[in-house]
Amino acid sequence: MRPFVIINSAMSADGKISTVARKQVRISGTEDMQRVDALKSRTDAVMVGVGTVLADDPKLTIKSDVLKRERVAEGKAENPLRIVVDSNARTPPTAAILGPNTLIAVTQQAPRLKVEELEAKAEVLVVGERKVDLGALLVRLKERGVDSVLVEGGATLNFSLLSLGLVDEVYTYVGNIIIGGSSAPTLVDGDGLTSDFVKLKLRQIRQVGEGVLIKWEVLAPRV
Ligand SMILES: NC(=O)c1ccc[n+]([C@@H]2O[C@H](COP(=O)([O-])OP(=O)(O)OC[C@H]3O[C@@H](n4cnc5c(N)ncnc54)[C@H](OP(=O)(O)O)[C@@H]3O)[C@@H](O)[C@H]2O)c1
Repeated sequence: MRPFVIINSAMSADGKISTVARKQVRISGTEDMQRVDALKSRTDAVMVGVGTVLADDPKLTIKSDVLKRERVAEGKAENPLRIVVDSNARTPPTAAILGPNTLIAVTQQAPRLKVEELEAKAEVLVVGERKVDLGALLVRLKERGVDSVLVEGGATLNFSLLSLGLVDEVYTYVGNIIIGGSSAPTLVDGDGLTSDFVKLKLRQIRQVGEGVLIKWEVLAPRV
């Protein structure tokens, strides 16, 4: 058993989630950011790859005080558990994501010193030998009561999760800009698939601000 997994991402009209410089760019507007905040407040955990931590240094907390208060009134923590998928413990000790209620998933090959540095600021969990074993990580999360996970990128983590059949829903916000650049990250990068593609069912499409929000259901997630 694993939690329900949702990928949420904002991309440009040409499918890029960032620029060739791999730094965060504003693709959506206030309305969509509020939607993501609300989505986040309804989930038990938020997950990113270490590439996103190194590029954007996100905090991944809920912005709205009202939503935070609602969670507390329901007996939940103010913010969802924050998870970084980080085989070699590359998360900088100064990263904004570190703090209470943060879990860094590393592997057996993560350097001991780096792990100890991170352990001073967050929980560190060893899952996998060389790459974080995402299936095993999700099972461990479910065992500790995490029923839903919101994945906020990036492109490499999105590919691993989708190709392993570990995703249930994908939200893509398509913003009204074009970024271009053949090496700029797209919604899903990684090695790519040449057959046996991940199939989706269109669940919702609506205009949000100056862009379009598309909600997809992943058909028959394999695990
Ligand atoms: N527009 C948006 O909504 C949005 C959201 C988030 C990010 N972004 C952008 O996306 C870019 C970052 O994406 P990214 O692809 O470089 O990085 P990423 O997907 O955030 O992180 C990938 C890294 O995670 C680690 N990892 C550990 N186990 C893994 C596994 N089983 N499968 C996959 N990855 C695993 C790997 O590093 P190790 O081998 O060291 O473990 C891997 O390189 C940035 O430019 C950021 O601005 C955009």
